[in-house]
Amino acid sequence: MDIKLTTGITLQTSKGQNLLQALKKNGIYLVSSCGGKGICGKCRIRILEGKSRIASTGKLEPRDIKAGITLACQTFPQGNIFIDIPKESKLVIGDRIALSKSGDLLELLKFLEASISPMVRQITLTLTPPTIEDNISDLERLRRSLEEKDMIGMRFAHEVVSSIAQSLRDSEWEVTLGYTVGNDIVYISPAHTKKDRYGFAVDIGTTTVVVYLANLTDGALMDAGSTYNSQMRYGDDVITRIVYATESGGLNELRDAVITDINDLSSTLLERHTINKEDVESVVVAGNTTMTHIFWGLNPAYIREEPYVPTVNFFPRWRAETAILKANPRAPVFTLPCIASYVGGDIVAGVLASKMHRKSEIALFMDIGTNGEIVIGNREWLVTAACSAGPCFEGSGIRHGMRATEGAVESVNIDPVTFEPALGVIGDVKATGICGSGMIDSIAEMFLKGVIDQKGKFVKGIKTDRIREGFEGPEFLLSRDNSREVVLTEVDIENILRSKAAIYAGVSLLLKEVGLGFDAIEKVYIAGGFGNYIDVDKAIILGMLPDIKVFFHRKCLRHRRIFMPYFQRTETRGWYHCLKDDIYRALCFKRIYGRIYVCPLSSPHPYAAFPHCEETAIR
Ligand code: FES
Repeated sequence: MDIKLTTGITLQTSKGQNLLQALKKNGIYLVSSCGGKGICGKCRIRILEGKSRIASTGKLEPRDIKAGITLACQTFPQGNIFIDIPKESKLVIGDRIALSKSGDLLELLKFLEASISPMVRQITLTLTPPTIEDNISDLERLRRSLEEKDMIGMRFAHEVVSSIAQSLRDSEWEVTLGYTVGNDIVYISPAHTKKDRYGFAVDIGTTTVVVYLANLTDGALMDAGSTYNSQMRYGDDVITRIVYATESGGLNELRDAVITDINDLSSTLLERHTINKEDVESVVVAGNTTMTHIFWGLNPAYIREEPYVPTVNFFPRWRAETAILKANPRAPVFTLPCIASYVGGDIVAGVLASKMHRKSEIALFMDIGTNGEIVIGNREWLVTAACSAGPCFEGSGIRHGMRATEGAVESVNIDPVTFEPALGVIGDVKATGICGSGMIDSIAEMFLKGVIDQKGKFVKGIKTDRIREGFEGPEFLLSRDNSREVVLTEVDIENILRSKAAIYAGVSLLLKEVGLGFDAIEKVYIAGGFGNYIDVDKAIILGMLPDIKVFFHRKCLRHRRIFMPYFQRTETRGWYHCLKDDIYRALCFKRIYGRIYVCPLSSPHPYAAFPHCEETAIR
């Protein structure tokens, strides 16, 4: 059977295969937040000709169905078929979304009052050339020289040994050895030629992958590249991916997807700077617990099942060749430790970069994404928790929700008299959906302009045709365009309020656990892809962030945090144990959480906790 696309491409498919699978097999990826279960309604396509069996229409509206729209994951062609893929359904991955130089690393060194401390150490040896009286082997000569410096039990991989005969003679018996703390020799090079030293730092987000290239000699951050995590082909959130990895046996596919992303970015960075991959002598990797498990090909199944036990918290220093990375195969790969199943290495790195663990002031660190991860404390104590915010800020579960890419409504201003919205759309194009920051803006604006009440319900009697009765109940029409309307429904608002309530409740409960109130917090750090873009004032109005007049700091955290192990090897381990031994609260499973969660389901919350919002609303 043929699948013909309006772009002119024709693909082959077989009976029993749905359109989502058929397109994926041919390298065409659609947004599939639910992983093909027919729930999210994001994999919309239009059938122009041909017969097919539709297993379910899911969340599609009657007018969409009338227009020939179906869900690709629920559509099984019964013969040749001609289809169109709307722009909003196409998953744009593999594109580099940023590639830029930055001086952040040097700034970070200054900020931390630290000097660079690469994972691979160096030693220079001057050997006595062999004679007929002293004709031990080259390897034994090297070992003897190392032992004279009390370096006993060094391990030489076959590839290193296979090069030493020539290396020793070319260097006239003066060599520099790079070695790890585990006594593995990483490289051998002539002592008189200056060898540049490079490292990669890899930030594996559920949505985005970033690779940084650093010069480990002078501490310069040379370049960075990022791309969407190709695992999004298999679902948007970590739970969908765990299900795909375990129940569908797709662990290797997921692993290959993210390793390919990292290696594509690494190759580009190496080419741009004419660097040999052998000179990349170490790699740092950070990500949430699921992402790091998949990166190392470890079964993530038990992260999702009670009692929520990951395979590894502290990852051994495996080599780049085990990770299949484009670096010196013997380069050590340091993986940021995970506190627990839902508090990963990205949080550890974030806290280290903020330096909150070194200061006396009590600070709140928040990483807002599908999971909201929270750390509260100072240099004497730290507590942490994860709360399930749900994927709505990434676009899932929201009628016209999408990630922050071209076409997404990212800011909204509503006229207080006409209720007409002025939209900021990413890429200055027509709106095709709404992203997390647009959702927060919309709800805060609707609340401030009296369009919705404190519970998120549309106020009756407002004179505007923007509020109408839709397929799922009342909705606000944000954008009307002949080809695509973008609405925010009352059901969407309810979902968003639930997500923000989860985050707020997480902070409240954690504070309660340590017997403190919001007034004890002296500084707030916000990290995470989404955290980088939210309007803090609007997030306070929404009730997602506490209404406290403190310094909200988020600049550079993302870049800074990933490099921490290059500078603070011992500190990483010490801080980890501080958190681990102190408290890890799996908040989502505590009964008390339920009580605290119900309270902030309004927007913002009872005014007593939001004095500045009260002033704004009264004005
Ligand atoms: S509805 Fe098809 S992937 Fe979610």
